[in-house]
Parts: sequence; C-alpha cells; structure tokens
Amino acid sequence: TGHTTIDYGFVNTAATKSAITYIDGDEGILRYRGYPIEQLAKASSYLEVAWLLIYGELPTADELDAWDHRIRRHTLLHEDLKRFFSALPPTAHPMSVLSSATAALSTYYEHESDPDNPDHVELTTVRLLAKLPVIAAYAHKKSIGQAFLYPDNSLSFVDNFLRLNFGVMSEQYEINPVVSQALERLLILHEDHEQNASTSTVRLVGSTGANQFSSVSAGINALYGPLHGGANEAVLDMLARIRDSGESVQRFVERVKNKEDGVKLMGFGHRVYKNYDPRAKLVKESADAVLAELGVHDPLLDLAKELEEIALNDEYFQQRRLYPNVDFYTGVIYKAMGFPTRMFTVLFAIGRLPGWLAHWREMQYDPQKKIGRPQQLYVGSPERDYPRR
Ligand code: CMC
Repeated sequence: TGHTTIDYGFVNTAATKSAITYIDGDEGILRYRGYPIEQLAKASSYLEVAWLLIYGELPTADELDAWDHRIRRHTLLHEDLKRFFSALPPTAHPMSVLSSATAALSTYYEHESDPDNPDHVELTTVRLLAKLPVIAAYAHKKSIGQAFLYPDNSLSFVDNFLRLNFGVMSEQYEINPVVSQALERLLILHEDHEQNASTSTVRLVGSTGANQFSSVSAGINALYGPLHGGANEAVLDMLARIRDSGESVQRFVERVKNKEDGVKLMGFGHRVYKNYDPRAKLVKESADAVLAELGVHDPLLDLAKELEEIALNDEYFQQRRLYPNVDFYTGVIYKAMGFPTRMFTVLFAIGRLPGWLAHWREMQYDPQKKIGRPQQLYVGSPERDYPRR
C-alpha cells in the first residue's frame, strides 16, 4: 500500500500487545508478569515460573503439585520415536535433533493438538514441557554414543533432566544439589524475553493456525543461530580459540573493533539492553559460585573476565553501549556441569520453552489475532514481456 514503511530488523515496529514480560533496556529491568527476575531466579522453580508465564499468576501449592505430577506422567517418548534418533548421523548437532524430533512429536499427537480445542492446548503444553527435556537428553546421549535412559518420574523436573543426561545404565546417579540449583536458576533466567526472534517465530507460525509442536519446532530453529541462542556455544568456541591461538585478549579485541573478517565479541551486545543485561549479572554470580562449589578452575572463565574488563573499558564498546548479555557466562557454567559445548543452545531451548508456550497461547486467545503477514517494498523490475523464442 502507499503507507508501507520499511523497518529492517523490526527495530521500531510492535507486532503485538503482550502482558507477559516487561523489559526496560535502558534501566536493565526484566520482569515476568510483574515479578522481578532477580526474585524469581533466587526463590522460584522452573515449573512455577512456567505456570506464571503461561497462566499469568503464580500457582497455588496444590495447582503446582498437580501440574508437576501431570507433567511427570508424560515424560515417556513413544518407543518408535526413540528409533528416530538412530536414523541421524552421530555427528548430528543436538539443536537439529531437537527441532526435528519436536516436529516429529506432532505426528504422534496430531489428533490431540487442535489449537482451537482448549483441552488439546493444555495437553500439548504438558506434553511439550514433559518430553522436550527427554528429547534434549537423548540428543546428548546420541552425540556421545551412550544408551538412552528412561525418565525417573520420582525426580523433580531438573533432577530428572540431569540424570537423563549424565546417568548411565545400571548405576545409581547421584544428584549434586549445587548443580541442580544452578541449572534451575539458569533455566528460569531463560524462560521468557518478550518478542525475541524465536518467540516472534513461534507467534508467526502459530498465527497460521499451526499447532504448538510445529510452532515450537520453528522457534527452536530460530534460536539455533549464533546471533540468538547459538551465542552461548559461540562464546565458548571463541574463548577456546583465543586460548589455543595464543593471541592476547587485547589483540583479539582490536580485531573485533576493526571488524576484521566480521569477527564479533560473542556474548556482547543486545537489541534492547543498552545499559546492562540483568540476566548476565545473575549468571556471572552463579559462574563464580558453581565453579567454586564444584572445585573447578577453568582458565576460560579467567579469559572471559579479562575480555569483559577490557571491553567495558574500551571506547568502541562504550560508545555502542555493548555489555555482556545472558550468553556470555552461561557456557562456562554448563561446561563445569559436564555438558558438551554443542548442548548449550539446547539448554537455552529448554529454558525458553515456557515463554514460547505462553506467547503461542497469548496469540491464540487474542481476539484481535490475525495471520502474521509483513509487507514489502518491491524494488524489482517493472513489467516486461516474456521474449518470443
Ligand atoms: N561485537 C562487536 N561489535 C558489536 C557487537 C559485538 N558483539 N554487537 C554489536 N556490535 C556493533 C555493531 O557492529 C554496530 O557497530 P557499527 O555501528 O559500527 O556498525 C553496533 O554495535 C550496533 O550493533 P547492531 O548489530 O546494529 O545491533 P543489533 O541490535 O542489530 O544486534 C545483537 C544485536 C545481539 C545481534 C548483536 O549485538 C550481536 O551480534 N551480538 C553478538 C551475538 C550475541 O551475543 N547474541 C546473543 C544475544 S542475547 C541472548 C539471545 O537473544 O540469544
């Protein structure tokens, strides 16, 4: 139309109203349904925050118990779906495995995933929350060539997930409470972040009437990219490369500033946070605590701190208001917990799942909902005739 304006990267265009998450990028504020992220991260649980995001209020103790119980009863994957993993190459990236297996879930539950049927929506929400961590753990097990474990539904959400990842058959798996609490906290920090690229993808796909399995699978693919969730993996790769190359941190920062080969300081910068990322602050605290508790000394953490220090005192980063984001320190913690680098973004996906589900639902139940369909400004050839041959 004559009124179309262009907005690369949607820097100035709101696609929806939302009552889920509030961010003030200048002040470094993040709240879920009004509750400050700092309070939730310290005191709440992954599933409690998931309920909060999805239903808008904190659950009562009975509601949370019943929901937790229901989710535990849905953790099993269909045995046939387990064979899906063996069809993929051992080198498969766990993020590709996660998105394709999530899409494949739809083939089992298509008949109970109608977006217009509220009971189906509830059931699919529960199924995704229950099964995604299992798929994620199997993607991990597959990548290291170990046998899959069945979920142990006597365990909490996070403990079950840890056991599925690190337990081995015929051996009792001991939960380390430090690891368990730290992972719970990290997952909470990732649960929602309003209209980021993956959440916007979930909404866009959902706006066509696609079910939650298809929408979430699309969201996982959007999260995979290194400018989004893939950044946590990219940060660790960057730190390892600096360490292995023997290049000084100062020299690396110079290369970033000169935009040599398009190299960026991964884990730095954010579209909305122009002061600091409140999640990064909490993650950094956790990194020190977890490594100390586990007795791990990781030179990559020292390298990360040196890099942060140099960048924060450098005019290039100051002028552009670039600060560490949530991904800068998470990888060091995941590594200390024993996760391979290629699992980092998968952990982000498990964290973000409740946010995707909350947004899918907000979109679905919005009386003003409309299929997402951006405009374009056509800049191609004017009409011309197909040549006679
Ligand atoms: N290293 C070096 N320079 C940077 C960086 C960085 N990490 N981030 C932004 N800049 C520069 C950019 O080159 C530009 O400079 P100039 O004006 O000279 O061209 C200026 O800062 C503004 O950047 P932009 O690309 O216009 O900012 P954006 O809002 O489009 O991009 C971003 C945001 C997160 C994609 C970007 O900061 C980035 O690529 N960061 C590295 C990847 C990363 O850590 N992503 C995780 C984001 S947080 C969690 C998540 O959402 O997954």
